Amino acid sequence: MAIPNDIASLHDYERHAQARLSEEAWAYIYGASADEYTARSNESVYSAIKLLNQTLTDVSKGHTQLDLLGHRLAHPIMLAPVAYQKLAHVDGEIASATAAAAQGALFTLSTLSSSRIEDVAQCAQGPRWFQLYFQDSRAQTLELIKRAEKSGFSAIVVTVDAPINGLRNREQRAGFQLPDGVRAVNCQPERQRQINPDESMIFQGLMRHAPSWKDIDWLRQHTTLPIILKGLINPRDVSIALQHEIDGVVISNHGGRTLDTLPSPIEVLPRIHELTKGDIPIIVDSGIRRGTDIFKAIALGADAVMIGRPIMYALATAGALGVAHTIRLLRDELELTMALCGCETLSDITPDCLWQPA
Ligand SMILES: Cc1cc2nc3c(=O)[nH]c(=O)nc-3n(C[C@H](O)[C@H](O)[C@H](O)COP(=O)(O)O)c2cc1C
Repeated sequence: MAIPNDIASLHDYERHAQARLSEEAWAYIYGASADEYTARSNESVYSAIKLLNQTLTDVSKGHTQLDLLGHRLAHPIMLAPVAYQKLAHVDGEIASATAAAAQGALFTLSTLSSSRIEDVAQCAQGPRWFQLYFQDSRAQTLELIKRAEKSGFSAIVVTVDAPINGLRNREQRAGFQLPDGVRAVNCQPERQRQINPDESMIFQGLMRHAPSWKDIDWLRQHTTLPIILKGLINPRDVSIALQHEIDGVVISNHGGRTLDTLPSPIEVLPRIHELTKGDIPIIVDSGIRRGTDIFKAIALGADAVMIGRPIMYALATAGALGVAHTIRLLRDELELTMALCGCETLSDITPDCLWQPA
């Protein structure tokens, strides 16, 4: 699969992907919760933040390197965990992990991967984290963690904002179902939970086995890998995470896919940065589509960012090549923004690089 000639930015991959994917798959990938207000605002909120350029500055020693939880990374662009990547391309996670390794981007493998943990690890020699959804039983959860450890994944990213799926109405209207041959190959099928007619399908049903802080403490006792919580938006949750000695956080609203009308990560970031005081890394996702978005997130306290949907758009358009190109486009845009704002390194990017009206 070649990269189409008319691609200049991530938005072009989105357009091509829509034309290539089935209507149902598009609804699943592009869609978000309810009326999709949060998903829309995730992108538009960045354009409302203005940059302040800085002229006549020597940036000839510029670079985008950073140290993060034991890795020296060439740049702060990471791949978020995204389920069922074979929906977008037959090589699924193996293609995206290979592309990430080629571009020096940290890759995160979803619990709901459509490729086996061991197969992805073998093909993707770059830095990689494993995203964990707690399973029906602790034994099943532990098995996933041990497989990830054995396969060289260097951190566990626990997603905490989606113990149940959001109401993704676009997907429901399209009647989306996973096609044959695409499934969560690393997991055992979920147990059907019986509830009485007078019980709630949500409280006594789907949420009955949802994880709590006790499960995070349990996890701490069963892995020596760093634990990162993904899906925090509420500063109060970040304070609690600090008490539980979490190693890092991904400030995320799941790309607007869980609860509609949540704020965007970039809006809560300054408060969260104030709380963590730089003690643990902050990663931000949801709505990152431009190098300027990455720059703004770093200015407001992020150490790195993740992209979610753009992985699927790139896979659907041009497979591994598309994902590698997507990472490269973002990195070039970030470097250009840094150069025009007079920043040689990521630590030069501060709130002073943003326009703050009096
Ligand atoms: C199709 C799709 C599947 C996803 N699957 C997962 C998943 O399995 N685990 C997870 O933690 N997040 C999952 N996410 C959320 C992403 O990790 C990420 O938080 C979100 O996509 C970021 O927003 P963006 O798509 O605007 O970049 C998924 C997102 C999409 C679009």
